[in-house]
Amino acid sequence: MMLRIESVLDAPALAAVRAAIEAGEWVDGNQTSGHQSRLTKRNRQLRQGSEAAAQAGRMVLDALGRTEEFVAAALPLKVFPPLFNRYSGGEEFGLHVDNSIRALAGSEFRIRSDLSCTLFLEDPGAYDGGELIVEDLFGEHRVKLPAGDMVLYPASSLHRVTPVTRGERTACFFWLQSMVRDHGEREELYRLDRSIRTLSAERGPTDAVVMELTNLYHNLMRRRADA
Ligand code: NI
Repeated sequence: MMLRIESVLDAPALAAVRAAIEAGEWVDGNQTSGHQSRLTKRNRQLRQGSEAAAQAGRMVLDALGRTEEFVAAALPLKVFPPLFNRYSGGEEFGLHVDNSIRALAGSEFRIRSDLSCTLFLEDPGAYDGGELIVEDLFGEHRVKLPAGDMVLYPASSLHRVTPVTRGERTACFFWLQSMVRDHGEREELYRLDRSIRTLSAERGPTDAVVMELTNLYHNLMRRRADA
């Protein structure tokens, strides 16, 4: 499942994140690359582990925690500290896979990457190219979203970022380990959760059917989720 989540950052939060990362040090994007990625990746990245990256990352994580749709769809267990990248002057990231296990250098922290997340930080009219292209059996999905919007997609997919031929593309990206490992099971839980929220808005949260379905949702979570 690929999912767009709108307005993760509102205008003030977007401005605050942008101000924090502008003050930081931008380095070659291959700082975090695996062997294969290094062959196709040409971009810049806010220095991982820097104070600017940590500060902006905290703002993004705070915003995500308040975004009901993100929590419901991703069911996050562990989130890798957000990273920030930038493309301009023809820079691109060719077709690649994301590592299945991500470890944070100098710490015990590591995750299985179930979902990849890209939070767009630049107005799409300000640059040409820079589309995120995710491949699945259906074909290619092209993603270029307004600043503040995010896409969630399976970390298991082949994907790339097309060359930025005008302006500059700035984004936040990270991976997460979900409480529910299986993409199909996670999607079913998300669809059930959405349906319950719709029904609850119509009938009220104490309606007998809403209560029964909510109980069912939590019992399914107990069977499927690691916490
Ligand atoms: Ni990637």
